[in-house]
Amino acid sequence: MSDPSFRASIIRADQISKRYESGIATTQVLTDLSLEVREGETVAILGASGSGKSTLLHLLGGLDTPSSGSVTLQRAELANLSEAERCKLRNEALGFVYQFHHLLGEYTAVDNVAIALRIRRVSSADARTQAEKLLTAVGLSHRLHHLPSELSGGERQRVAIARALVTSPKCVLADEPTGNLDTENSDIVFNLLLEQVRERAAALVLVTHDRALAAKCDRQLMLRKGQLEPLTD
Ligand SMILES: Nc1ncnc2c1ncn2[C@@H]1O[C@H](COP(=O)(O)OP(=O)(O)OP(=O)(O)O)[C@@H](O)[C@H]1O
Ligand SMILES: [Mg+2]
Repeated sequence: MSDPSFRASIIRADQISKRYESGIATTQVLTDLSLEVREGETVAILGASGSGKSTLLHLLGGLDTPSSGSVTLQRAELANLSEAERCKLRNEALGFVYQFHHLLGEYTAVDNVAIALRIRRVSSADARTQAEKLLTAVGLSHRLHHLPSELSGGERQRVAIARALVTSPKCVLADEPTGNLDTENSDIVFNLLLEQVRERAAALVLVTHDRALAAKCDRQLMLRKGQLEPLTD
C-alpha cells in the first residue's frame, strides 16, 4: 500500500481531554491525547481496565464530547456540527462493533444487518440483498433467518461485524469485539473482521487486551495515564 502519510485522514483527535464529574468526585480519564487514523489503516489500542479505552472510542465516534480538544471526522470538526449533522456523518462514515453484540433480539440475522441500510433509506429489497451478501461473506449463509438467541456467541459477533460493514464505512470502531469469546472463536471472528475491513480498504480502530490480536494490526498503541504511547514489551 502507498506511504500511509499520504493517505487521507479519516479521524483526528487533537489534544483531547476527558473528565467525568460526579458530585464532588472528578475522574480525569484522558489528558491532551492526540491520534490520527488514516484511510485503510488498522490501529490496535491496548490498556488496563479503566484506562479509558471505551471513553476514547466514544469520543472518536462522536458518541460523547471531549472536555477539551477536538475530534475531526472526515475533515468535519464534530463540535461544529449540530446533533443531526453529527448523527448523519457518524452513520455514513463509521461502523461500530461492541463486546456484546447489541443485536435486536426480535429480529433475524438478516434483518439486524438490513436495518443499518434501512436507516439510510435503502429500499427493503436492496437492503435485504446486501445484508445476505455480507452475512454470506462472514460465513453465515445458513443462519440468515435465525434470531440472535438461536445463534452462538461467535455467530452473533459475526452478525455484528456484518452490520457494521454493510454500510461501507470509512472506519470501523471496535471495542473488545471478541472479548466474550473463547480463544478459538476469538481468533476466527477477529481474522474475519480484519479480512473484511482490509478487503474494503476501511480503517479500523480496535480496542483489545489481546496482544496477539493487536499484533495483526498496522499499529499498536498503549493507553496509559490518559495518553497513547507506542507499545513496548
Ligand atoms: N459516565 C461515567 N461517569 C464517571 N466515570 C466514568 C464514566 N464512564 C467511565 N468512567 C470512568 O472512566 C474510567 C475509564 O473508563 P473506560 O470505560 O473508558 O475504561 P476502559 O479502558 O474501557 O476499561 P475496560 O477495559 O474495563 O472496558 C474508569 O475509571 C471509569 O470508572
Ligand atoms: Mg471498555
